[in-house]
Amino acid sequence: MNKPGLISLAGGLPNAAYFPFASVTGEILVPDSFPLKTNSEESSLSWFWKLFSRSDKEKTATFTVGKYPKHSGDLALESALQYGMASGQPKLQEVIHEFVEKVYKPDYGNWATLVHTGNTAGWATVVQTILNPGDGVIVSEWTYPSAIGAMQPYGSIPVPVGMDSEGMSSISLRKTLAEWDESARGMSRPHVMYTVPIGQNPTGTTMGIQRKKEIYDICVEYDIIIVEDDPYYFLQEGKYVPKSERVSETELDDEAFIASLAPSYLKVDYQGRVIRLDTFSKTVCPGARLGWFTCNPMFAERLERATETSAQAPCGFTQVYVTSLLLNWRYAGYIRWLKALGLQYKQRRDYFLDCFAEEFHLQPSTSMQDTAGATMYYASLKPKRTFIPLSEKDTAFSKPLFSLVAPSSGMFVWLTLYFEDHPSFSTMGYKALEVKLWTEIAEAGVLFAPGAIFSPIPVEDDTPGNGHFRVSFSNSNPEELKKAVTVFGAVLRKFVRE
Ligand SMILES: Cc1ncc(COP(=O)(O)O)c(C=O)c1O
Repeated sequence: MNKPGLISLAGGLPNAAYFPFASVTGEILVPDSFPLKTNSEESSLSWFWKLFSRSDKEKTATFTVGKYPKHSGDLALESALQYGMASGQPKLQEVIHEFVEKVYKPDYGNWATLVHTGNTAGWATVVQTILNPGDGVIVSEWTYPSAIGAMQPYGSIPVPVGMDSEGMSSISLRKTLAEWDESARGMSRPHVMYTVPIGQNPTGTTMGIQRKKEIYDICVEYDIIIVEDDPYYFLQEGKYVPKSERVSETELDDEAFIASLAPSYLKVDYQGRVIRLDTFSKTVCPGARLGWFTCNPMFAERLERATETSAQAPCGFTQVYVTSLLLNWRYAGYIRWLKALGLQYKQRRDYFLDCFAEEFHLQPSTSMQDTAGATMYYASLKPKRTFIPLSEKDTAFSKPLFSLVAPSSGMFVWLTLYFEDHPSFSTMGYKALEVKLWTEIAEAGVLFAPGAIFSPIPVEDDTPGNGHFRVSFSNSNPEELKKAVTVFGAVLRKFVRE
């Protein structure tokens, strides 16, 4: 099909002359639309207001893509809107390849990339391609529910592994694999792992290079393919520093910025056993439904065949728009955008955790802190009306009611709620208490995500453990974030006495 001059009567392609789009035009933000520096002198709120007030002063650039190419190799609707190769538009392939090479620096030479329609679909394609019905898949004990949902119809069975403040625990992984009992489990040892190492959904944990090496080595030993679903890679916000100790950010050059990011599994993958899923959802927009695999060429070929029988290829309009954006920005512009984007989310994360620090008494843990830049905090209630002397019964004011690991990446704060001292704990158990508290918070006008939905295996009423909520700071304005934490505090005060 690609041979120049070939007269192909073999396909069933509609004639591009009948496509009713003569050209498409886009107006895009310039890459330096958001600042690269935070100012510690500014109040937490002022940056938000700057963000909103600047919308009328946005600096933009425009692009137009016509139906037919002016020069060979140009993006053109004639090909972009035609049935195409599952591998995507050649220009997009080039941009993605350059990006992977410069940013993730894979550890072996002949890696391949292949576009997909977002990480959700990418993972579903992997499930259909490399798993047999009844195969187990190693997952974290708390996992993105859609990843589990994609496996269920294919009969793949989640095998949860314990986590700590850095995400999946290598100790727990080794134990699970070493002690694998085929007859008790009713399945052979898994050969696939699904993992979200940066800003994990739902726990917000981020894994450092050392842990990745440990897990990779175990996967080499037990022959496990690692599927790295990494939508939050560029939302690496760094360690949370309490407001009073915060200093201004220094600007990093491009290489220093890339070096500052926790490396991908690709960096340690000397055997080609990693399938990395990248998506434009969090760096450009989710509606684009565009991302890509990076993996060894054999896996890429199989995934390409699987794509041909489903989406065929990502949407042609999407490819035109995202490719035009990236060609306009160039590599340096996209890196500039990503740097600023990370900073935007950092400021949101800081502001949200500052709200918690105002509402609750946050005590940093002394036992498991500073893992991969994250600190765990125990939260207890602050006495609101201090003129009333606290009685012996007021344990709620001194005992932690919940803890959180201040995330160093992503969009989520994961709350672990300690229900043991609740008056109804012995009769209700933690699951019912989680639902009760979640309902009361919702009725007060704030919606958290209840922890149980992130368990890869069903949570029973008598399952021992703690309550959990996933709360997101990515998409609300400052008043809403502040109000949400205040409402949570008010509901919790009542709840501990119910
Ligand atoms: C872990 C994880 N994977 C995948 C996705 C979705 O990615 P995409 O929009 O590329 O399908 C999300 C986000 O919602 C996520 O948290």
